[in-house]
Amino acid sequence: MDWGMKNRLSRLIRPDDGRAVWLAIDHGYFLGPLSKLEEPGKTVKPLLPFTDAIMLTRGVLRNCISADIKVPIILRVSGGNSIAGPALSNEGIHTCMEDAIRLNASAVAFSIYVGTEHEHQTLLSLGQLVNEGQRYGIPVLAVTAVGKELEKRDARYLGLCCRIAAELGAQVVKTYYCEDFAKVARSCPVPLVIAGGPKLKTELDALNLAHDAVRDGAKGVDMGRNIWQSGNAVGMIKAVNSIVHENKPVKEAAKFLKG
Ligand code: R5P
Repeated sequence: MDWGMKNRLSRLIRPDDGRAVWLAIDHGYFLGPLSKLEEPGKTVKPLLPFTDAIMLTRGVLRNCISADIKVPIILRVSGGNSIAGPALSNEGIHTCMEDAIRLNASAVAFSIYVGTEHEHQTLLSLGQLVNEGQRYGIPVLAVTAVGKELEKRDARYLGLCCRIAAELGAQVVKTYYCEDFAKVARSCPVPLVIAGGPKLKTELDALNLAHDAVRDGAKGVDMGRNIWQSGNAVGMIKAVNSIVHENKPVKEAAKFLKG
């Protein structure tokens, strides 16, 4: 691996413990102004000190985030779909590598839709993005997206998606936690992080998810709604941080929610 690629990855996954807490605020690219993300700059500001990277689009980055930010950027470069359209899987690359470099991105993120009518286009586009990433030393984060079909999230399907993403060259893969997640992690040769998915019933549920994921082989989280839609978003990200980076048990991490 070239120095630039290694350097960028080391900014995203902490070299001291090999773990990562990323904050995802890219949802607007197909969901519009989600609750608590109407003003992304305001939402994210108090959370930044406890975040290893933020994942977002170039529009939100340029318009809502101060350019003196110290936190590395994971730039969402795929889209072209919306919750109001006919197929969430119909994604392509909308932001070029040149703009990602201009924005000083530490990685670019792209969703694949395995098993859908758009499987072929999303997998080929992932390969194309990896080719460009290799040229400039920019890591690619592949997201194993399920669209509206949340029930797809089982070890067999996610294991297939993660392995394909790694085989096509993604340097990091983002997926969902599931039963038998250890199998998914074992068969994916690159680091895995997990998304939180839609807001769970309680904060403790989300902390358990983060805990079980790292216990079973994830390198960390790239979480959104379960952090910033919480009534105590700062407490949540501190708690998740203590689980991922300090191996704190959920009961102890939950103390951050009382502050
Ligand atoms: C898809 O909407 C995006 O890639 C999100 O960044 C991803 O799903 C993580 O966010 P959440 O934890 O809210 O699922």
